[in-house]
Amino acid sequence: MQLENAIKERRSIRRFLDKKPDWRKIIRAIDLARFAPAAGNMFAAKFILIKDPERIKKLANASQQDFIKDAHYVVVVVSDDEKLKKSYNERGERYARQQAGAAIQNFLLALVDQGLVTCWVGHFDDEQVRGALGIPEDIFVEALFPIGKETKALAQSGEKSKPDLENVIYFDKWKNKLMEPETRLASEGS
Ligand SMILES: Cc1cc2nc3c(=O)[nH]c(=O)nc-3n(C[C@H](O)[C@H](O)[C@H](O)COP(=O)(O)O)c2cc1C
Repeated sequence: MQLENAIKERRSIRRFLDKKPDWRKIIRAIDLARFAPAAGNMFAAKFILIKDPERIKKLANASQQDFIKDAHYVVVVVSDDEKLKKSYNERGERYARQQAGAAIQNFLLALVDQGLVTCWVGHFDDEQVRGALGIPEDIFVEALFPIGKETKALAQSGEKSKPDLENVIYFDKWKNKLMEPETRLASEGS
């Protein structure tokens, strides 16, 4: 799949086919996440692949989001910030969040590329997630990703609106929307 297609086709899906996805595809997506940029090349994220239905139920409860129960697999992304904090002090924490996001986007695009779907779940009770998976206090829980296969009906459902290009770009200084010399910008597909 072309990169641009994968970027545009990625959507948050909260209903999954009953059919189990091939776990090898999930491992491949985790493998590709490792290639994301990382401050000082200190990759701090870990990916926990959960297949135990009891633990998945606990994660659904911890997030108060029922659709998670229907996933055969959930990946929980966590970060060990210690080395980054040692090298960059308070800034290390910022770097840890940013590079986890970069790794996660690689992961999401690699899932799309292999025909799998997921939804980024950021709302959860940290302590309950830690408890369900035995994650220690000093490890930061980034997000949960219930993974499945998409039904054809859902795949054909409408696109989500995204901000227009002209609303996300400034030139030379804050809030300056004009490019010199003046050039008209058009979002692709608009
Ligand atoms: C940091 C973050 C946290 C999110 N948390 C949740 C969540 O807890 N539950 C949920 O259903 N979706 C969650 N989402 C998914 C967003 O709702 C979704 O990305 C947004 O509506 C745009 O839709 P799209 O992903 O289909 O483009 C989260 C997304 C991000 C990036």
